[in-house]
Amino acid sequence: MSLVLIMDQKSDNTSKGIGVKKTERKKQKDYGKQIGTKVVHAGEKTNPLTHGIVTNIDFSTTFAYDTGREWADVFYHGKQGFAYSRHGNPTRATFEDKIAILEKGEAGIGFSSGMAAIATTFSTYLSPGDEIIVTDRCYPGTRHLLDQYFKKWGFIVHFVDSTNNDNVSDKLNKNTKLIHMECPANPTLSLCDIEAIGKMAKEIGAKYMFDNTFASPINQTPIDFGVNVVVHSVTKYLSGHSDVLGGASVSSNADREEIMNTAVYFGGVMPPFDAWLSIRGIKTLELRVKRHNENAQAIAEFLEEHPKIREVYYPGLKSHPQHELAKKQMKGFGGMVSFCVGKSDDDGETFLNSLKIIKKATSLGSTCSLAQASGSMIYLEFTEEEKRAIGINPGFIRFSTGIEDKNDIIEDLDQALKKI
Ligand SMILES: Cc1ncc(COP(=O)(O)O)c(C=O)c1O
Repeated sequence: MSLVLIMDQKSDNTSKGIGVKKTERKKQKDYGKQIGTKVVHAGEKTNPLTHGIVTNIDFSTTFAYDTGREWADVFYHGKQGFAYSRHGNPTRATFEDKIAILEKGEAGIGFSSGMAAIATTFSTYLSPGDEIIVTDRCYPGTRHLLDQYFKKWGFIVHFVDSTNNDNVSDKLNKNTKLIHMECPANPTLSLCDIEAIGKMAKEIGAKYMFDNTFASPINQTPIDFGVNVVVHSVTKYLSGHSDVLGGASVSSNADREEIMNTAVYFGGVMPPFDAWLSIRGIKTLELRVKRHNENAQAIAEFLEEHPKIREVYYPGLKSHPQHELAKKQMKGFGGMVSFCVGKSDDDGETFLNSLKIIKKATSLGSTCSLAQASGSMIYLEFTEEEKRAIGINPGFIRFSTGIEDKNDIIEDLDQALKKI
């Protein structure tokens, strides 16, 4: 007997995707009401064969049945089960259920990276000539994908400063098919009004997509504010330990089916081991994110008072220009803090190179604190004018707070600041 019997999926021969799995989650009642319970139990079931409480890793790429017809019933005719892992895999299905519950959607998809989730979702909802409105604070990889590829293929892309709702509404028209937002956003942790933009998308009948990587569902659930498709780089807070490259989308069942139709042909689905590591990582998501929030708040407050720091960007600070909006749409303010040290990029560089515990590395949402300086590690492709336009001033540091003891991190920051 295989795990097929305990999974809860159907295959469906739809107009576009053959053998696309349609998640129809049973009303699972035993994962609790609070997010701290859901992260542990959501999507997971005790194995009825072994009674093991840990989800198994199913590495099978293909699934065998007693007869060809039985296989075809699963692949083509909507019978519960799995046939080929690009279309659906038991371990990935558990991850998909878990993230769907946490993000308050009906169904999820596990991707091989955050970029795979973003590119596949864009490709699902856009045809050449369609218009897309995107926050100009989006992840630089998303911007590159749109600028270098989607524009060339005939999509009309409007990048807007989404801190002002008017900039979004100015670009809305009958050809707008998709609005893509992201916040808190690189590099100055700016916000957009998720709900106000949701109302605009609904009025015009455009899909509303949102990258919730920085906040995680512990701090913010965009579906509450009218978002149709939430995407994630699972590489960050969700998996949480810098050992998984993954992505996810969460949506209604109908949107899931549309996106999965694209995903099976683009092929960038999440491998079973990464799904398993992500399931395991998410069990401590609430504990970790609470600690990230607490550490980041303390670090931001320390930096704000420090004489060698010129600017600090953190939505949890009263001085953040959108602090009130942050309180409205976020339950916690996240682990990312940006700041400017000394007077120049050279000062930023000296500070960075003097750090001892904090690692000089890209990415975010890791157990380890990670720092990058604009003088040497990030935004190197931008001109000085372009950097200033998005708030990257001399000595800019992007800091991803880890879950270490905050006193050690503050001490490390303090000793490095003494070097400039
Ligand atoms: C906000 C955000 N979205 C998407 C991505 C892309 O994710 P991945 O690197 O998993 O493809 C990143 C990566 O840093 C990110 O920070």
